[in-house]
Order: sequence, then structure tokens, then C-alpha cells
Amino acid sequence: MDVIMMRLDRILTEMGAGSRQEVKKQIRTGQVRVNGQTVRKPETKVEETSAEIWCMGTLYRYEPFVYYMLHKPSGVVSATEDARERTVLDLLESPARTGLFPVGRLDKDTEGLLLLTNDGELAHRLLSPRKHVDKTYEAVIDGMVNDQDVKQFSSGMDIGDDTPTLPAVLSILHTDPEQKRSRVSITIQEGRYHQIKRMFEAVGKKVLYLKRIRMGPLELDPSLPKGQARRLTEEEIRALTDKADKGE
Ligand code: URA
Repeated sequence: MDVIMMRLDRILTEMGAGSRQEVKKQIRTGQVRVNGQTVRKPETKVEETSAEIWCMGTLYRYEPFVYYMLHKPSGVVSATEDARERTVLDLLESPARTGLFPVGRLDKDTEGLLLLTNDGELAHRLLSPRKHVDKTYEAVIDGMVNDQDVKQFSSGMDIGDDTPTLPAVLSILHTDPEQKRSRVSITIQEGRYHQIKRMFEAVGKKVLYLKRIRMGPLELDPSLPKGQARRLTEEEIRALTDKADKGE
């Protein structure tokens, strides 16, 4: 494996130890040790992934890419910053890296699985329209979803775009004839703007609640409380990167 060298001040800044200026000051004032040695030059190159860096009592080990699974609650926007709204990044208590972003978007009122990473290449591959990565949602619908809807969803629908939607798998989990509501699961291969809401509108029904539970091989951890995030396991990262490589 190639050994990659990186400036000490850059590693610490990217890992959230402080601003570039703060980090430089900490290094110059002797508060940073690399592999047991105090280093006073911010520009010192250190081996990216193996260096053991202590800064102000915290151990930093650099990882080029980090991956988080977020259980997105309703009421936050899928953006990295917003002048008025709380963003999904605001929910990460102590992010291991700067430069994180959400892979794709969930509407402000949609809950569930959102991947946050700084790995642009993986994000690109997961979001590419040509890769058809399956995304599964659970939804509560105002109206009685029926077999005709299932058929329409499976054959592709005109939702007002240039092309019809790709086939989607709609399963009826429960219908409540008294309240005229349905609980469904739906798997889509694309990620068009408001896609599921627009698909139900096209059959005269309204989405009341929407939650994503799966994206490709990645499943929302049922033990992850709403509003919280955790790092992906090695296995989850491998499954995700393998899948993205194969274009599934
Ligand atoms: N479809 C929608 O309509 N909204 C989402 O947030 C995701 C898929």
C-alpha cells in the first residue's frame, strides 16, 4: 500500500481539532506530539494513516474517509449548511472530520436512513442514475392503496417529468378502511425530487408519513434512535463500496 504523507496542521484541521490558525498555534506552542515526539512545525509531513497524533490531550488517528448512518428525524434539512434551518450535519455531536455531506436528500419531513460521508466518489456512484441503487421506504398513505396502484407503480409512471419513472415495487402492509389509510413499503431505483410523494399524487393519494429504511445494501439500524448517528461498521462500508463498484 502506498504511504501518503500529509501536513500535520491539515490533518488536525480536517479532523476537527480547531481552525487552521488555532491548530498552527497549538503545534508551535508544543502542544502536539506525533508518535511520541513533540513537533513544533505545522508544515511537518506525517504519514497519513499510521501517525499517532496527540493534541491537547486527545488522540487523533487520520482516516481519509469516514461514514455515518444517521436516523434523520423530521424537521431538519438534508444540506451541509442553511441560514435558517437545522441541517442533518448539526445532528452530529462530534464529527470525526470536516467536509462531511449527506449522500442524496430526504425531504425535510421525511425520516430515516441518511448516509453522511466525505467520500465523494462513493456518493457519486451511489447516486448515479445509471446505477439504479434501490431505496426502500415505509409510508403511511391517505387513501386505500390497491392492486391497481401496485400495478401502476411496477410499470413506471408519468409524474410530470420528461421520462416515466422506472418500475417500483409497492407492497401493501396494512389498510384501515375506517380511517381510509394505508401502510405500505415502496422500493424505487431512482432519486427524483419528491419522487414518492409525486408517484402517489399521480394515483390520487397523499403521503402522510415517509421513512427510508434501506439504501442499497445499507439498512437503517433499528436500535439507532431518531436524531442520532453512528459510524458505519467495517462490514457495512465493505458492502456499500462493493455494491457501488458493481453498479448494483
Ligand atoms: N421521495 C419523496 O417524495 N421524498 C423523499 O424524501 C424521498 C423520496
